[in-house]
Amino acid sequence: MAQDKRDNNSLQMSAQRRSFSVRTMEIEDLAEVYQLGAMNFKADLWPMLYRSWDEYEVTTLFNTDGDYCLVAENDDWVSGSKDQRIVGFVLGTVISKPGSAWSYGYVLWLCSHDDWAREGVAGKLVDKLVEIMVEEDGIRIIMADTDPDNHRAVRFFAKKGFTDTKPHLYLSSNLEHNPHYAPLLKKSRAAAQTAERKKKKKRRDAPARLSSMGTDEKKRLKKKKLKKRKKKKKKSGKV
Ligand SMILES: CC(C)(COP(=O)(O)OP(=O)(O)OC[C@H]1O[C@@H](n2cnc3c(N)ncnc32)[C@H](O)[C@@H]1OP(=O)(O)O)[C@@H](O)C(=O)NCCC(=O)NCCS
Repeated sequence: MAQDKRDNNSLQMSAQRRSFSVRTMEIEDLAEVYQLGAMNFKADLWPMLYRSWDEYEVTTLFNTDGDYCLVAENDDWVSGSKDQRIVGFVLGTVISKPGSAWSYGYVLWLCSHDDWAREGVAGKLVDKLVEIMVEEDGIRIIMADTDPDNHRAVRFFAKKGFTDTKPHLYLSSNLEHNPHYAPLLKKSRAAAQTAERKKKKKRRDAPARLSSMGTDEKKRLKKKKLKKRKKKKKKSGKV
């Protein structure tokens, strides 16, 4: 249903052609790219995309594969307006196998804004990505994957000549109901409960323990606590 609505929307928008430019992703684009992805990779439509899309995906690829992270920017965007600035993005990578002269390009994430559907945003992004990968890495094969029910993406890639398709199964299991791993989950929960119970008991007994302590013992305890706190702060980089 949601997909149908989007399809109608994209058909209506197809009459319009607006101007956008493709360029390498910059640090100030990261938040918008993440948000645009979060708007599109939805749990109800594409659970696998939804599960693996997060801020770290964007920042990690920006650090490791910055040359293959591209955005499409609305040329008519004005600061302060409600219009989208970033109207699409593609994040890719190149896989080079040791001992093989072949390098493979991979389209990891591709997305265009719903309001800019079918205006050539994704097409231009993928064209530029492949151009970079061919020129800089000499790739001979470009790969992409998507859910077979994601017909917009399937049609998009088919139109771009990605015609060598292989079915691929994504497997998942709710560990709670998995006979192999449910005991692990149970064990881990029991350990967490025991730790919580111990913590509560320690908190409950603390006043009695403190009142029975001598001054020296109290001083030692305070010192120990301070040391522990300092160590924790140092570990988290606050000191
Ligand atoms: C798939 C997607 C990237 C296409 O972006 P786009 O900017 O609309 O694509 P372009 O304008 O460059 O190309 C349009 C072509 O894509 C396909 N397409 C796009 N929307 C379509 C739709 N609603 N119905 C059928 N085909 C569609 C068609 O082949 C279309 O060509 P046509 O208009 O000549 O029929 C976009 O719909 C999207 O972001 N989807 C959600 C995220 C996603 O699924 N990403 C891919 C997996 S990571």
